[in-house]
Amino acid sequence: MKSITEFLKAKESGKKITVISTYDYWSAKLCEEAGIDAILVGDSLSMVIQGNDSTLPVTLEEMIYHTKAVKRGAPNTFIIVDMPFMSYHVSVEDAVRNAGKVLKETGANAVKIEGGRQMTDIISKLVSVGIPVMGHIGLTPQFINQLGGYKVQGKTEKDRERLIEDAKALEKAGCFSIVLEAVPSDLAKEITQSISIPTIGIGAGSNTDGQVLVFHDLIGIFEKTPKFVKRYLETGKLIKEALKNYKGEVENGVFPGKEHQY
Ligand code: KIV
Repeated sequence: MKSITEFLKAKESGKKITVISTYDYWSAKLCEEAGIDAILVGDSLSMVIQGNDSTLPVTLEEMIYHTKAVKRGAPNTFIIVDMPFMSYHVSVEDAVRNAGKVLKETGANAVKIEGGRQMTDIISKLVSVGIPVMGHIGLTPQFINQLGGYKVQGKTEKDRERLIEDAKALEKAGCFSIVLEAVPSDLAKEITQSISIPTIGIGAGSNTDGQVLVFHDLIGIFEKTPKFVKRYLETGKLIKEALKNYKGEVENGVFPGKEHQY
């Protein structure tokens, strides 16, 4: 993807959109080489990279630092940056200043904002000054203290209605796309059919216009991953094996061999 227009074209033509959430140079480079459509520098880096137990602690400066590395690895890929907790909530002015800083300093193409209709004033303003916005509804990890856990959303009729209305409000506010996280697949289908911008699902079934997964989940770095993740590799096990081999060989004098010496 080169621009938000291509997201809209993909939806019109039925071409599924692939997005990967990742945070550094080498993984971004591999994503670009593999032809992934867009990279999200997700605030999940707070948990995946920094080891926090929620996405709340990561700062704007840390998001910028990681996005610069991603941009160096994937200079020709559409890059979306998660606006971290409290970087867009205080006021519309604050949101514009912070999102503008992200785009100016990193060369990224868009920002992502969590929340439904309560965010539409902020989103409209960002879009009006040239900052493309991806929405994010369903399970919104920045609301963890209200949600009380990483649970599937939209299970009751009332919640379903609310999420459908939120998606419509985000489209009206100018979002170019919306992430649907952890919602039943029939609800994701209904939302996808009721708006003209693409939906990108994570734990939302196969009826969305695209999918997003966290790079580290997809390659199986950690022992456990949520039910909705497909582990395409078991890299964690392989790396651990390699590290054990290295330790054993150093201790036994096998490494470095003659071929590794000057
Ligand atoms: O932070 C993130 O990586 C995300 C995706 C999982 C959608 O928000």
